[in-house]
Amino acid sequence: MTRVDSTAEVQSEVRGKSGRMVRWEPGRHILRDAWFPVAHTPVLGSTPVRRYVHSQPYYIVREGDRFRAFEFHPEELKRRGKEASEFTGGTGEYPLVDRYGFTWVWYGNPDNADPALIPDIPFLPSRRSMPAYARVTNFFHCTYELVLENVLDLTHIDFVHGNFAGTFESEDDRITVDSTSETVTMVRTIKKKPTSEYQKKVLGVREKFQDVTTVTHVFIRSGICFLHAHYTSAPSMPLMQNNTPESPFLTRADAIFGLEQCPDITYRKNWPKTGPMVAAQDEAMLNPQNPRYLFEAPGPDMNTRFDTAGLVYRRRHQELLERQQMGDYSYNTDIGDGAKIAEILKVRRMR
Ligand SMILES: [Fe+2]
Repeated sequence: MTRVDSTAEVQSEVRGKSGRMVRWEPGRHILRDAWFPVAHTPVLGSTPVRRYVHSQPYYIVREGDRFRAFEFHPEELKRRGKEASEFTGGTGEYPLVDRYGFTWVWYGNPDNADPALIPDIPFLPSRRSMPAYARVTNFFHCTYELVLENVLDLTHIDFVHGNFAGTFESEDDRITVDSTSETVTMVRTIKKKPTSEYQKKVLGVREKFQDVTTVTHVFIRSGICFLHAHYTSAPSMPLMQNNTPESPFLTRADAIFGLEQCPDITYRKNWPKTGPMVAAQDEAMLNPQNPRYLFEAPGPDMNTRFDTAGLVYRRRHQELLERQQMGDYSYNTDIGDGAKIAEILKVRRMR
């Protein structure tokens, strides 16, 4: 992993290694050859459900114990089979894997669809899902790069979700950012942050302040992110959110909480219910941003040290894009560095 944690390095991240400004054109370019978790597996049945990845359609259906993903509605498969694209190698059927309670489909060359490339999610059991109350679905009306930038923007949590997470005051506030060719990991360590309204009124936390460690781990190709926050005297639990790029105008955010990492049963049942409210707070910020990026060329952004993770994300995204534009869709060996994520998240590894 590569670590960036000084202001000077942040500025060089804006400019990139060559000294040129990193081009940032969210919604304009597509990264291929990745697994996308497009549906909570328990919702699938014999009636096909349709999902999109970068506007490519996937019809997913349960056949007994088996799940299949097709390029066309199964009833049209015979008639339209000849139209099958390169994404299914001309067969009309995509590679599919059921893991961590999600149905993962491959977007790219099916010959490269190695299940070993599915991310390791240490806080979720690999062979079963979570109860319905721990699974949520939200939508953001913007391209997925903006969702990921938002997730990696530390300050937005204090200002947009202050009622749930606590406001911006603190005694000390530090970040570190690590990255590989495929991931960006941000850790924020805060001392003496005011206990939030939600923690006081709903959870009954009496302490006035919390020391908080927040971790965000983002997968650049697919948009998957892991989120977790530890508070000194309030419960929390990790979650995985898919952030699937359905189109440049719509991101599907299916999230699943790692219930078994949290001993507080009341919190386990109630915290996922805040999902739609938290998502609505983000949507209010993201929806108006999208046309500004898609239809008007933005000028250079102003940045502070708190934008480091977003800037590293832009640079890593650009590096992947340049590699793919040269025809190289492979994964570099540094993705193995992500294996320490259970340690960083401070979660118990599930089976
Ligand atoms: Fe947010």
